[in-house]
Amino acid sequence: MEHFEINGGSRLKGTVKIDGAKNAALPILAATILCEGETILHNVPDLQDVRQMITLLNRLGITCERREEGGLRLRAEDEMNCHAEYELVSRMRASVCVMGPLLAKRKRSQVSMPGGCAIGDRPINLHIQGLRSLGADFDLAGGDIVLRAKKLKGTELFLGGAFGSTVTGTANVLMAATLAEGRTVIESAACEPEITDLAEFLNKCGAQITGHGTPRITIDGVDSLQGVEHTVIPDRIETGTFIIAAAITNGELHLENGRLEHLIAVVDRLRHLGLNIERYEKGVQVSSARRLEPIELTTQPYPGFPTDLQAQTMALLCLADGNSVVTEKIFPDRFMHVAELNRMGAHIRKEGPTVIIEGVKKLIGAPVMASDLRASAALILAGLIAKGQTRLHRAYHIDRGYQRIEEKLTAVGADIRRVQD
Ligand code: EPZ
Repeated sequence: MEHFEINGGSRLKGTVKIDGAKNAALPILAATILCEGETILHNVPDLQDVRQMITLLNRLGITCERREEGGLRLRAEDEMNCHAEYELVSRMRASVCVMGPLLAKRKRSQVSMPGGCAIGDRPINLHIQGLRSLGADFDLAGGDIVLRAKKLKGTELFLGGAFGSTVTGTANVLMAATLAEGRTVIESAACEPEITDLAEFLNKCGAQITGHGTPRITIDGVDSLQGVEHTVIPDRIETGTFIIAAAITNGELHLENGRLEHLIAVVDRLRHLGLNIERYEKGVQVSSARRLEPIELTTQPYPGFPTDLQAQTMALLCLADGNSVVTEKIFPDRFMHVAELNRMGAHIRKEGPTVIIEGVKKLIGAPVMASDLRASAALILAGLIAKGQTRLHRAYHIDRGYQRIEEKLTAVGADIRRVQD
């Protein structure tokens, strides 16, 4: 196992190149199951989660060859195996994105029920409900979800749940509907940019999708899809993470390829905090006012404030000049980072799905434990500003969603290194 050692106090200055979006690349990789012929993808980040998805696709008969940095060439060679097994799905929840494509293309899918994780219960009842609405027969066998359908039939279906829309649930139903007979309308679809990127990819392959990016997506089924060349959008969560890295160190960063239009709710809240965030010709530039104003924020489905930036923003709010309030509406238990930030001298109090962050003058370096991907990012950010050394254990969590984060941070002045335990 490895841990990070971070010595706080450096102001970050310089340019960081933003990689392709993990949460767009994963469903697009799964969508190659639907395609005849070859697919060439660019700007695919080299992350642990992406490697897991490629391993799963290989098991499902999809060959995958790495090309230039971020480039992949994929082709479906063998359609026999339709089983995404527990040992893979339990390690990477987004494996469930193969369910819709397998069902639509191979008429059968057997996918292990994903377990919960540190950010809470991760049910997939809406995925199953949506696919059954398209005519799939459902069975539960030994912890696996088995879905079968000779031919899916288009229909109008509602995909909203108690916490609003579902991102990968929308991806699954959207992908399955591309090869269904007739028209499908998905009401309460997820509007995330990663869903829009998936729909753009599928339309290039010959699908007929309209309304992507809005809560109502319409899909007219086609007989087949052809592999194409596609470049994955930049990662808005990585962009937001580095905006906060600049702010927390009172530095100034240029984030190449960052897209402000994917972060409107985040920019709104961070500008209220006192950050200067502007576009420049290659992306986003950010600098911070010395004094940070306290804010209120609530996470919501896109275009609301993304839950995937809640932990990182909380690290910054620890140093605001007053009390901030954060409410988590997507994953109400997504607060594993609170206890660890308090170990570093933060004053955060949890009241159910809401936390009150009382601003403090400084954070103090300490040994802390990573629990999930975004909590790990929050603790690295806190370590960048904390007095003394912070040791973040279980570094593997961060590698799931950030490519070589310590190299990118070092290149703009951070004192961080990865150390073997
Ligand atoms: C996607 O997860 C992202 N992962 C998550 O990013 C992100 O936090 C989440 O969307 C919310 O934006 C990928 O895209 C691979 P949901 P997903 O289905 O699709 C409930 C990261 O850090 N729900 O939109 O699994 C669910 O419990 C990861 O990159 C049901 O009740 O999330 C949650 O409360 C973490 N039934 C809410 O809906 C279902 O069938 C939103 O979940 C599905 C979801």
